[in-house]
Formats: sequence, structure tokens, C-alpha cells
Amino acid sequence: MSLLVFVFSYLLGAVPFGLVLTRTAGLGDIRKIGSGNIGATNVLRTGRKDLALATLILDSGKGAIAVLLVGIATIARQDREVLMAIAAGAAFLGHCFPVYLGFKGGKGVATFLGTTLALGFTVGLIACGIWLATAALSRISSLSALVAAAITPFLFLVNGQWAFFGAALFMSALIFFRHRANIERIMAGTEPRIGQGKKADS
Ligand code: G3P
Repeated sequence: MSLLVFVFSYLLGAVPFGLVLTRTAGLGDIRKIGSGNIGATNVLRTGRKDLALATLILDSGKGAIAVLLVGIATIARQDREVLMAIAAGAAFLGHCFPVYLGFKGGKGVATFLGTTLALGFTVGLIACGIWLATAALSRISSLSALVAAAITPFLFLVNGQWAFFGAALFMSALIFFRHRANIERIMAGTEPRIGQGKKADS
């Protein structure tokens, strides 16, 4: 069952909506624009707010749907929380390392927020609130993601949800790893504000 959950969630999470939407709109390859990332923040750099919003919703939604479908399919099982946690981690891995793009994917922030909302709606709302509050203060998308990722896993501990805590901690660690170039720019004071242009990640 775990393998089935993993493969299904991974393949769903691997769908690169940012790339699909920008290509369909005739904007070319998003991986050659801005930071080169396939996420909503970089789609916004094309000037298309509608596509950025759609990317955010779809990248979040694929993570949420993976978790919710697994939750529904395993409702009578004792290991349901573990299987939902596996679904979250696998969808997230799919986004970051998609088989359809030679395993070169995104940074996972929207998918992290989507899976978190599905694992625990209140925790997910708080995570989104942390992202929004940090973005309102700093106008830096990557910093907002890092602050939300650092805090969110521990919110699951309040309810003693250890499997969800494990999944969120795993995703959080990978978000920090995927934001290495962003962290360097934040430290150097050169990370662009939301909507500003940007050089490709090194
Ligand atoms: O969601 C990704 C964001 O945190 C950073 O994206 O394109 O500015 O590297 P980007």
C-alpha cells in the first residue's frame, strides 16, 4: 500500500504546472526566465499575474489532492496518518524532482502549503498566514517560504501528529536545501522583491 501511495502521489506532484501554463500561453520555457524556477514566483516575473495565480493554485492543489485522496481511500486503516504523510512527502518530491523533466523541478513551496492544508487545515492556514505576513513585511518570496517552512512542522506537534510532523520536517529541510542560492542572496541583501526580475540560480 505504501508503495502505491508513494508512486501515485509522486506522479501527481511531478506535473509541472508552471511550465505547462507558460508554454501553453506562448511565453516559452519558464526555466529560461528569471530564476529559472518553475514555481509561481518566477511565473510572476513573466508579467502574467493570472498565470502565476493559476500556478500557485495548481501546484498547491496537486499536493492537497494527493493527500486528500489517500486519506479518503484509507479511511478505515489504522496506518492512515502514516499513508497521508507518505502522500505529502511523495507529492512534494515529485514537484522538486519530476520524472517528466529529468528530475529537475521546483523548490516545493506551493506544494508544501497545499499538502499542509490537507494534512491539517488549521496548521495549513497558519502556514499560509506566516507566508503572507512575512511577504507583506519583506516583499521577498523566498524569505517568506523559509520562515513558513521553519515554523510549520512544529505546529503538528501541538496535536501529537508525529507522522505529519515527520513529513513536514522532511519537506521543510528540502525547502531550505532547494533555496541555497536564495539564502545566499538574502544574506547578501541582493534577493529581489516579489515581482522584480532576477538572474538565474547558480
Ligand atoms: O516558491 C519559490 C520561491 O520561494 C523562490 O522562487 O524564483 O525567487 O527563486 P525564486
